[in-house]
Amino acid sequence: MKLTIVGGGSTYTPEIVAGLVRLRDALDVTELALHDVAAERLDVLAGVSRRMLRAGGHPAAVTTHTDLAAAADGAGIVLVQLRVGGQDARLSDETIPLSCDCLGQETTGAGGLAKALRTVPVMLDVVEGVRKVNPDAWIIDFTNPVGIVTRALLRAGHDRVAGLCSAAAVFQRHFARILDVDPARIALDHVGLNHLTWERRVWLDGEDVLPRLLAEHAHRVAPATGLPAGLVRRLGTVPSYYLHYYYAHDEVVARQQEHGVRAQEVMAIEAELLRQYADESVTAKPELLTRRGGAHYSDAALDLMNSLLSGDGRTHVLNVRNGSTLPFLPVDAVVEVPAAVTADAVAPLPVDPVEPLVAGLIAHVTAYEDLALDAAVHGGRDRVFKALLAHPLIGQYAVADELTDLLLAANRDHLAWL
Ligand code: G6P
Repeated sequence: MKLTIVGGGSTYTPEIVAGLVRLRDALDVTELALHDVAAERLDVLAGVSRRMLRAGGHPAAVTTHTDLAAAADGAGIVLVQLRVGGQDARLSDETIPLSCDCLGQETTGAGGLAKALRTVPVMLDVVEGVRKVNPDAWIIDFTNPVGIVTRALLRAGHDRVAGLCSAAAVFQRHFARILDVDPARIALDHVGLNHLTWERRVWLDGEDVLPRLLAEHAHRVAPATGLPAGLVRRLGTVPSYYLHYYYAHDEVVARQQEHGVRAQEVMAIEAELLRQYADESVTAKPELLTRRGGAHYSDAALDLMNSLLSGDGRTHVLNVRNGSTLPFLPVDAVVEVPAAVTADAVAPLPVDPVEPLVAGLIAHVTAYEDLALDAAVHGGRDRVFKALLAHPLIGQYAVADELTDLLLAANRDHLAWL
């Protein structure tokens, strides 16, 4: 099978290559096609990928492409992990809101909206380009903001699209480590939207062990949430790390104003990673990659590819069309829940009713995502303003107006409608 990575010049590519090596007997990949608009990055990433495959005894050939049609032609799966504007754009997404005393984060709040505005049109073009030469490939969207991007693709009529985030896989491994068991024995009742999820039950071989985890190990569970152990215990569920941007918003903003934003750390990590990838003696995934939030995303991505190709019907936590899964949301919303994966479909599994503490925020952010998508697809200052006004972390007209002007000015080169 040919596997194509759009955004193959990303520093995350070795994560996928390491997964290919690990699963070489299960997943028959004969060609890894790396596509990117940045040719120099492509050469560096192709080089390290080839060395990793060779060192791992994997026979796949690595090809590089700046032409999307050639990259996608004949692929069984196309993984899209691009970042429009690179880390420079991320830095402005995170620093501009902070200058208005709002959260500086790449997917949550105003920064997430700026990212959506830049990314949705590009993703729609990419997927259209892929479909022209390859109507059948499964497309795995790892491009943030995953929920809004996946919703854009589904709304544009592209099926065979699954939105993937590593968050659930990270929790699965985290709980397994605490319980000292194989992660494969852990299943999650994971519900919400991308980067707005809660683990409501943690099944170990079918038994819900979350009460025990919270009673005995809350201090070990909690660091993965960014929240105090006592709060997590009181909630009785395990919120995603992205929820601490809501539940501890002012604290986070104060910390960011003092210590800077994540983009600055990531820029330093990326520069060093690229230096290591260019080093001919590097033949394995560098340890430094574990300092990125998406570390281990290959676990989730490769497991998913396996199910899509084999049609084994296994359950994966994915971003999928809501349908009737969360009845208080529009049917075309995109939710992040366990889904059954076959060769032809990703179908959300039924979830138990969602409690008001959680349902309110999910509904609120879904409405924001609807407006964000509208702004990204149709453009217009007013649409951007309304999306910001609707976001639970913005919500005041004066701030929304100021942020609209600042974010649009900073993204002038990336928005065709400006
Ligand atoms: C997690 C999220 C990804 C996000 C990443 C950020 O893995 O699920 O959506 O891109 O963290 O990590 P970074 O190292 O870029 O801050």
